[in-house]
Formats: sequence, C-alpha cells, structure tokens
Amino acid sequence: RGKRAFIAGIADDNGYGWAIAKSLAAAGAEILVGTWVPALNIFETSLRRGKFDESRVLPDGSLMEITKVYPLDAVFDSPEDVPEDIKTNKRYAGSSNWTVKEVVECVKQDFGTIDILVHSLANGPEVSKPLLETSRYGYLAAISASSYSFVSLLRHFLPIINPGGATLSLTYIASERIIPGYGGGMSSAKAALESDTKVLAFEAGRKHNVRVNTISAGPLRSRAAKAIGFIDMMIDYSLENAPLQKELTADEVGNAAAFLASPLASAVTGAVVYVDNGLNAMGVGV
Ligand code: NAI
Repeated sequence: RGKRAFIAGIADDNGYGWAIAKSLAAAGAEILVGTWVPALNIFETSLRRGKFDESRVLPDGSLMEITKVYPLDAVFDSPEDVPEDIKTNKRYAGSSNWTVKEVVECVKQDFGTIDILVHSLANGPEVSKPLLETSRYGYLAAISASSYSFVSLLRHFLPIINPGGATLSLTYIASERIIPGYGGGMSSAKAALESDTKVLAFEAGRKHNVRVNTISAGPLRSRAAKAIGFIDMMIDYSLENAPLQKELTADEVGNAAAFLASPLASAVTGAVVYVDNGLNAMGVGV
C-alpha cells in the first residue's frame, strides 16, 4: 500500500510545502494538505481553475493529485481556544473544523491513518522588527504559530500515524547563527522547533515508533520569505558564499524531505538536516 502524507502549510505552488508534496507524490504517496483558513479560498480556486497545473507535473509526466485540502489554523488546538473576533471573521466563518484537533478528527474519519506528517508553516507578526524591539505579544505569537504548532500537530496526529511513520518540519539557520532581519522572535521560534525535534523524536519514537526530523533549508523566494523583505539579499549571499554556488530550488528540499520520510532514513530521527548548498558549514564569508 502507498503511504499517506498530510502536509500542513501549502497555500500556493511557490513554497517548500508544495515541493515536498510533489516529491512525496512522485514517490507514490497520497497527498492530503492543510491550508491556512484565510488562504483557503484562493488556493482551492486556483487549484480548480488549473492555475497550478504546470507546477503539478511530476517527473513521469503525470499531474500531482491532492486527495483532499483541509482548512487549518495551527494556532488553535480546539474550538474552545478560538476567540470571538476570529469566529465571526468573514475569512473564517465560511469554513469549519479547522482547529488542529478537529482537522485530525476529520482526517481520521476520512482515511483512518497517515504515515507522514509535514509541518511547513511559520508566522511571526513582528518578523520585520529586531528582537530588541519585539513585543511579548509578537514573540509569543511567533512561537505559537511556528513552534508549538508542530508540537500540537504531532500530539494530535500521533495516535493515527502508523508505526514506522515519519514527521518533518522546516527550520532556518537563524536559530543558531545571527541573521539580522529575521526578527520578531522568529529566530527564537526556530531554536525551539529544533530543540523540540530532539525531545519529540525521543517521545514519539518510544511511544509510537515514529521519527521526527527537521530540515534546515536555505533561502527560497516563497510568499512567506518575500514578506520578511530580505530574501533576495539572502539568496545573493548564499550564491556568493556557499560551497555550492547555485540557486537552491524548492525541489531539492522536497527530495531531501522524501528521503527523510522514507524507509531509506529508518535510522534517522532527532536530526537537523541542512539542505542549503552547504552554507551552514562556512565560518566566514568569502
Ligand atoms: P510559504 O508561504 O509557502 O509557507 C508558509 C505557510 O504557512 C503558508 O502557506 C501560510 O498560509 C501558512 N501559515 C501561516 N500561519 C499559519 C497558521 N496559523 N496555520 C496554518 N498555516 C499557516 O513559505 P515557505 O518559505 O515555504 O515556508 C515553509 C517553511 O519553510 C516555514 O517553516 C519556513 O520558516 C521554512 N523556511 C523557509 C525558508 C525560505 O527561505 N523560504 C528558509 C528556511 C526555512
């Protein structure tokens, strides 16, 4: 039987989530997607109208099929957590069952189990502010959307992840080295995500024989990255300084993700795997 993957954090065909979905689909996995509620409408409409058809093409010429798109807001664990202003917000009112707990219940009802969970989402409302100018609210919001969201997804999905399954998130070197401009507590959030990768690898490994890894990816011109504002500079810096002087494609991260999610990586857990043309290994710019 083919594997079934749930990928949280796809809202267009430019980000890492989309590329990971494609690599997993090319390897024969069935694809389920969790899309941020405010972005759901445009994503589904674009999918339906064929806007992504060109980027749905897999290496064998067939088109990636997305079996189902679930609305998701990974900042809320259950309906009790949702404040009134969100509940009544136009962009949310049209969808239902989008808290983490409800999404997992829906996936369980629809499909029973999954084999692969991918977390490809992050958000920090004050990302463009230096950490020194970040408010408590902004810092905690970054951690909630970018770090606890993985804890929550894993916690709720774990009972329906088949033993031997694999989970994955995406992180950034700003967690361990100074990257001016990656602010708002986002660097802190990635540090938490990486540390949690180790602790959760232990807990999910012992409890359920499920692996937990994270990919530290190099810079990609995604929607989220463009919002931060310094992505072109980061891409140029990498081109100039990394051991491999080529632009990083999302597919390269997708392929590494497919490896980590596969039995080829059956002994790899608790790892931060760099997919960044080797930039992390440099000690100085050249
Ligand atoms: P992206 O914009 O394609 O993906 C981010 C997704 O998160 C979007 O689809 C957005 O709708 C979703 N999202 C935001 N808040 C959410 C919430 N509360 N609930 C559910 N979904 C929510 O951008 P990208 O860059 O592909 O990001 C994917 C992951 O890759 C993130 O964890 C990011 O930090 C990481 N990453 C990105 C790098 C880059 O240069 N683009 C470098 C290293 C890591």
